[in-house]
Amino acid sequence: MAEEAVLGFLEKNDEITDSGQFAAECGIDHQEITNIIKSLYGFKLVDAQDIKREKWVLTDEGRTYAASGSPEVQLFLAIPPEGISPEELQRKLDPTVLKIGRSQAIKNQWVEMGKQLVTRKVHDVEDKVRHLLLRVQDGEVIDPKGIDALKRRKLISPQTWKGYSVRKGPNYAPKRKKFATDLTRDNLQRGDWKDLEFKEYNFSAKGQPVDGGHLHPLLKVRQQFKMIFLQMGFEEMPTNNFVESSFWNFDALFQPQQHPARDSHDTFFLQVPSTTRTLPEDYVERVKRVHEFGGYGSRGYEYDWKREEAEKNLLRTHTTAVSSRMLYLLAQEGFAPKRYFSIDRVFRNEAVDRTHLAEFHQIEGLVCDRGLTLGDLIGVFNDFFGRLGMSKLKFKPAYNPYTEPSMEIFGFHEGLKKWVEIGNSGMFRPEMLLPMGLPEDVRVIAWGLSLERPTMILYGVDNIRDLFGHKVDISLIKRNPICRIGIE
Ligand code: PHE
Repeated sequence: MAEEAVLGFLEKNDEITDSGQFAAECGIDHQEITNIIKSLYGFKLVDAQDIKREKWVLTDEGRTYAASGSPEVQLFLAIPPEGISPEELQRKLDPTVLKIGRSQAIKNQWVEMGKQLVTRKVHDVEDKVRHLLLRVQDGEVIDPKGIDALKRRKLISPQTWKGYSVRKGPNYAPKRKKFATDLTRDNLQRGDWKDLEFKEYNFSAKGQPVDGGHLHPLLKVRQQFKMIFLQMGFEEMPTNNFVESSFWNFDALFQPQQHPARDSHDTFFLQVPSTTRTLPEDYVERVKRVHEFGGYGSRGYEYDWKREEAEKNLLRTHTTAVSSRMLYLLAQEGFAPKRYFSIDRVFRNEAVDRTHLAEFHQIEGLVCDRGLTLGDLIGVFNDFFGRLGMSKLKFKPAYNPYTEPSMEIFGFHEGLKKWVEIGNSGMFRPEMLLPMGLPEDVRVIAWGLSLERPTMILYGVDNIRDLFGHKVDISLIKRNPICRIGIE
């Protein structure tokens, strides 16, 4: 309606001289008219010049006087013809009205403020102030003297009024043309594309917000663990082989071939290719011997070790398989003290529930040096877990085929106010290290923990399936907050 009014008026007239007047004449809100003028100006249908005018508006005080009379008149009317005591007058009037009214009324010589009696000095008064205020309110033009009087009493204040004068623009038309924004299949079929006028490209328009990639909470926590290991001088082990042979996953770790973990109920074995092609022959021979007969002060397991069993391919069940490869390599290269870590995926053929998945991530660390003791192991753990914000640790004897002693690690979680199991650890057995060819006094302390558990605690996730796997809500990845491990 406003658009038709503006364009229609300009069809017959040269100019809208004042958008304010125009709005009033059309009975349309001025804001609506100015919005339309701006839009028409953008498309060059009209030319517009700014008009700025200083306008007077009533202050809050001015508005109350416009409504209920100036204080001096209120005071005058509160005085009866026979006069009134000052106390009585005080009771009848609001304190500010009394204060202002009194001084104005005295100035106007309307009243006599006696100590005992207040009396009228004139018969009648006229509320000129209120009159002026009402005229300002109606937008009337007031003479400068009147404005000055109201301004001095802070009953009015200036306000800049903005409007436009409007003329036809270069693209003027009595009706705005609708431009096509898309060329559709229908346009092509009907042939009306020939007559279409297209909207111009707006090269300065902002595009759609770009939604970049987001890191999964597990990756964020992995990064923090990685930083801790790197700060402690650990090197990362290459873990880019999910498929491993039973040999490196189990046999090299002195895990007997009858061990229940090697059952297909616990381990995913590969069908294709079902076996590994190469194993280091000398070392295989030494591993076979240590399983069958022991050596290095051990009795071994006293069973028939089968190569076919060792050759079976599987999805690695722990990253300790990588540790065994690395230690073997280190022995071949000539021993040097090392600190190694890895954080990567492992697989177990387990029943899936709230806290278990068939695949998860393991954090693994190991330190190898000559003459390390259990004290070194506890020292490294205090350092490592201390950096995670867990400085109270407890150890519980445990069993792993490849470590002696073996210890479960518990940490006191300050947030949860309880002891939580945080990992498994131990010193690798001589039956594992010596067949590799490592010097006799070399000790290796090692530990492993899951990445999922600390991540679930940090992100408050209580079902692992909400964190990892096919049921994960993608928006979780977008919305997850920044969480930091460690103490503040
Ligand atoms: N491999 C063990 C596990 O999967 C963890 C571990 C690593 C234990 C190193 C001792 C030493 O639970």
